[in-house]
Amino acid sequence: MSEYVRIFDTTLRDGEQTPGVTLTPEQKLEIAVQLDRLGVDVIEAGFPVASEGERRAVKLISEAGLKAEVCALARAVKEDIDAAMKSDPTTIHVFFSTSDVHLRIIGVSREEVIEKVQDAVSYVKDHGFICEFSPMDATRTDLAFLKEVSKAAEEAGADRIDIPDTVGIMTPETMRELVSEVKKAVKIPISVHCHNDFGLAVANTLAGIEAGAAQAHVTVNGIGERAGNAALEEVVMALHLLYKKKTGVDTSKIYSLSQLVRRLTGVPIQPHKPVVGDNAFAHESGIHVKGVVIDPSTFEPFKPELVGRVRKLVAGKHAGRRGIKTILEESGITPTEEQLSEIVRRVKELGDKGKTVTDTDVVAIARAVIETPPPEKKVLDLRELVVVTGTGVIPTSSVKLDIEGKEYVSAETGVGPVDASLKAIQRITQNLAKVSLKEFRIEAVTGGSDAVAEVIVKVADERGNVVSARGAREDIVMASVEAMVNALNKLLARRAP
Ligand code: KIV
Ligand code: ZN
Repeated sequence: MSEYVRIFDTTLRDGEQTPGVTLTPEQKLEIAVQLDRLGVDVIEAGFPVASEGERRAVKLISEAGLKAEVCALARAVKEDIDAAMKSDPTTIHVFFSTSDVHLRIIGVSREEVIEKVQDAVSYVKDHGFICEFSPMDATRTDLAFLKEVSKAAEEAGADRIDIPDTVGIMTPETMRELVSEVKKAVKIPISVHCHNDFGLAVANTLAGIEAGAAQAHVTVNGIGERAGNAALEEVVMALHLLYKKKTGVDTSKIYSLSQLVRRLTGVPIQPHKPVVGDNAFAHESGIHVKGVVIDPSTFEPFKPELVGRVRKLVAGKHAGRRGIKTILEESGITPTEEQLSEIVRRVKELGDKGKTVTDTDVVAIARAVIETPPPEKKVLDLRELVVVTGTGVIPTSSVKLDIEGKEYVSAETGVGPVDASLKAIQRITQNLAKVSLKEFRIEAVTGGSDAVAEVIVKVADERGNVVSARGAREDIVMASVEAMVNALNKLLARRAP
């Protein structure tokens, strides 16, 4: 197993073969520049014979003065190789099918394959290019023939032999065996190119390297044909941290490149994708958050900074006090122990209703809870709220308030349920203070119809006192009523002798 493993990136070629993905030459160049900064050894930039755009993309990248080898793909036919050469790459990746199932379809005999491969590799080498040869569908090719064709390519001057697991049917064990066998047949370095049809592309790539392959074909975010290719970020992190191998990759640039590829290809990243998925460094469960806050290594295999990311503590019904406290502290909010208990209670209540609670929701809830006076300082408290609204009915609200131990009820109509509810509160409290509403704002509505609404009200009384207060609930009427009750409590506290 070699100390240094070469990274052959094929995001711009096999990755671009992802159904629905097309990149312009300029977009390919943008990704290639970042791949080069990341430190990959080879950038497979495209398949020049396929289109004018592909030729232009490979040429643009070849002329960009990158440190990496720039590689162009070509079938083992003169037309493809000529198109590749015209794009001025460093390397030409020649491929030809070798499995019986493929040969039957294209109507070519094994003898013809040997002849075509030797002619193609010699042609590439005669023109001074580095040549990597791939026997396509190698993993379903008769082993004796695979060795024969690999040897033939080596004799014709190939610099590297790649073993493509074209339909992703290998296991780590069969991959190790196959690489060991091909290694017995040739002296030149071996690459592995694994597809992910059984979710084993990364494991098979690493197995190939264990067996002596010197180079891994990968794509950013694992994009590619069907189920994709071995993911660059997973292979590299496993090589560095689990296998203690070296690559040229600066891992701190992985996340920004992953995001660039996501944006330009439009292929989303599954949230639980290792290394680059949204949840790869997110913690919600109370036990995990508690551990991670004390020592991140309790529930993280490596630091997120290593791949250019930051840890995320997620609010939600699984979140414990410590997690919510940390989220609030990061927003500059330090609730009392009682306030924190109420915030945690409300976050869990929301989660139990099926709502995904975001950090913004937690902050909004916390601000509303902090504004609510403790029970001993409250003059009034909401006991009941019933609203009727819809088409063909006049919006009506019935409110029951507790004022210093006595219950009062009022029902009002309004232009909407919020208006009716606030009027009902004002009616009940008119003997305590005559308030008018000066401002009403809904400030934070965090996406989705089940979002938490944060309502801010500003009220004034007949003596000229002005107070603002807020409420935060998943129901706008409830949030408005909470804000109004909080405002009245503030006002009455101010008026108290
Ligand atoms: O998967 C494959 O076989 C390929 C070849 C072109 C190497 O991508
Ligand atoms: Zn492939």
